[in-house]
Amino acid sequence: MKRLLVSLLLAVPMMVNAGSVKSPNGNVELTFSVDPDGRPVYEMSYKGKEVVKPSFLGLELAKDKHASMGLKEHDLMAGFKIEKEETSSFDETWKPVWGETATIRNHYNELAVTLSQQWLEGMPSTPEGLRPAPRQHNRQIIIRFRVYDDGIGFRYEFPQQQELNYFLIKEERSEFAMAGDHTAWWLPGDYDTQEQETQQCKLSEIRNRMKEAVNWGNSSVAVFSETGVQTSLQMKSDDGLYINIHEAACADYATMHLELVDAQTKALTTKLGGGSNAYTPNPAPSEWPIPKPFTFVSHLTPDATGLKGAMQTPCETPWRTVMVSDDARDMLSSNLILNLNEPCALEDVSWIHPTKYCGVWWEMIVGRGSWHYTNDYPSIKLDQIDWKKVKPNGTHKANNENVKRYIDFAAKNGLDEVLVEGWNVGWEDWANMWKRDVFDFVTPYPDFDIQMLNDYAHSKGVKLLMHHETSSSSQNYERHIKEAYELMNKYGYDAVKTGYVGDIIPRGDHHYSQSMNNHYLYVVKEAAKHHIMVNAHEATRPTGLCRTYPNLVGNESARGTEYEAFGGSRPDHTCILPFTRLQGGPMDYTPGIFVTRLSEWSNNTSWARITIAGSLALYLTMYSPLQMAADLPENYEKFDDAFQFIRDVACDWDDSRYLEAEPADYITVARKAKGTDNWFIGGKCDENGHTAVIKLDFLDKGRKYDCTIYADAKDAHYETNPQAYTITKKVVKAGQTLKLQEAPGGGFAISLIAK
Ligand code: NOJ
Ligand code: CA
Repeated sequence: MKRLLVSLLLAVPMMVNAGSVKSPNGNVELTFSVDPDGRPVYEMSYKGKEVVKPSFLGLELAKDKHASMGLKEHDLMAGFKIEKEETSSFDETWKPVWGETATIRNHYNELAVTLSQQWLEGMPSTPEGLRPAPRQHNRQIIIRFRVYDDGIGFRYEFPQQQELNYFLIKEERSEFAMAGDHTAWWLPGDYDTQEQETQQCKLSEIRNRMKEAVNWGNSSVAVFSETGVQTSLQMKSDDGLYINIHEAACADYATMHLELVDAQTKALTTKLGGGSNAYTPNPAPSEWPIPKPFTFVSHLTPDATGLKGAMQTPCETPWRTVMVSDDARDMLSSNLILNLNEPCALEDVSWIHPTKYCGVWWEMIVGRGSWHYTNDYPSIKLDQIDWKKVKPNGTHKANNENVKRYIDFAAKNGLDEVLVEGWNVGWEDWANMWKRDVFDFVTPYPDFDIQMLNDYAHSKGVKLLMHHETSSSSQNYERHIKEAYELMNKYGYDAVKTGYVGDIIPRGDHHYSQSMNNHYLYVVKEAAKHHIMVNAHEATRPTGLCRTYPNLVGNESARGTEYEAFGGSRPDHTCILPFTRLQGGPMDYTPGIFVTRLSEWSNNTSWARITIAGSLALYLTMYSPLQMAADLPENYEKFDDAFQFIRDVACDWDDSRYLEAEPADYITVARKAKGTDNWFIGGKCDENGHTAVIKLDFLDKGRKYDCTIYADAKDAHYETNPQAYTITKKVVKAGQTLKLQEAPGGGFAISLIAK
């Protein structure tokens, strides 16, 4: 039957056609065609250089047990002809609710190709004479390309039609054939975690690096292939092109990974193991042509059934994005991913505000205190415990006295909010127990007086920031969400940090599947109804949905500062994240560690590989409208003159200029604080140090600025002398040049206050 189908496909007369479109300035060119077998093919160039070599597009569909028509699983991969090609242009400037710049230009040329796929369904085994008339099938899809000066986006669209109403995705097979053995900054493709250290190597070396790249210590690991990597994937070609592959507007669809395939690995997936999540290898269809060397193929995150998506037309996939430039700074200033997302869906955004916060957090992460309240219960059933009768363990940090201490600290230093983790009952057995009803999100521990603490905070102009760890029991969270958000409204909370530690419950599902992506977005939408901002940890990596739902003010979705307490991260880590993780949206990186040797105040022997000046730089180089001052109040009090920068720095901007950048080496950025004439500049470097040369040509001509420079001292070093910094004050004006020496693992921060 399968063979007959293939030959019938080939018998359909094919119109081989091609269309091409250039970006507004002509630098990026996209060409589309269908090959003689009717496979969609695209290629892309930048200033005449190949970026993506001819690459196939398509989707494999799964057999549907509800299919009324036997061939419903017929793939969307070949047998297409071009029905229509439409080109158009778009140029609009929009204002983000918060962001790196006050306005964003969305300027592209578009090519929308309507493809039809027709085939005959025959009945070869039926004797002639009894054979019914062959049935003619006809389906249409649209592949839409948007071509920008700094890259492209494309997506598949499925209009509603007689023969394509509901379908299941077995795999999306979008190819990205790279033009050479580029250097790549990559994380292992994993269905459940993205908290690994980034690897840097040639594409050809990924396979040999994979085993050591996997963070086997994470509480959920589900890697799928020896050559599977995550997006956003940053690359650099030998001839100096920066290329980045990611996705935009991933909603009601699974998160995409990339798998590097070549003739040798055509069978695609080999399970590497890890976690408790079983995975069935998903080999390429036999008729799929052998990919060219250095070709990535999309690999979607499965749900508990092993399938990748359940679709109902009309619908579309997320945008697949390829950014390109010969200047690394363009990778950081690009708005391509935000532009490919839909405009803001919320009418009233007046309640959304960039936020600086501190929290009852670091002391638990480091291990000096606990989230849980008692040590006397090995297991907790929420409805069977009288918490007033329980013996406290004495290490519970979300207690009235300690929380008040943080509120006082926030009020004194102009921080907007105080995060309190461990305030609600259930932490005694919260993670990795396959326990469904872990938290109810409304019952405080007896030593956390929710009314008193909120009143106390509000009286000092501070808000408490809510914490909802779900333990990945997503259904449990959805069941409680209404009461949980009503409680927040009642006490005046306007932001929640959520978390998804451990394997997903319902069991078998994955953190980045279509169903979980729907959950995260459901949470954001429900929160918006209650005027609540969301900062989701361990959730799927962002794809720019914060344009549409600007109450999604932060995500973790990468290795954050917490790892400085779990063995540490490399000094170049924060010089990579802006090129990779931050492409889709801001990260709640929780910077600001001043006492980097944790053993100075705890039993934890881990240490942060950064200098104090480098920690200050992160408030600029790791853009986010939500910024934490993560260290303990008493640690900041020891370095109060350096802490002044955290007090002063803005977290919303009218303008941003990336002055210097090279992945994994250094980043220097200047930003103009929202609604002011003040600028802040930050520079962060890797373990090798860096000399930053900053031309102040962006300042207002003729104007003078009070300039405060927080720099690494001459002998500063992230390992041996991290707390050595200098603070210099002077008056500067436009046109002057500042030269700053960044120590190994260090950086600098500058404030420029207009006189
Ligand atoms: C992991 C989060 O990243 C961290 O910030 C949080 O404290 C713990 N989960 C507990 O929810
Ligand atoms: Ca985490």
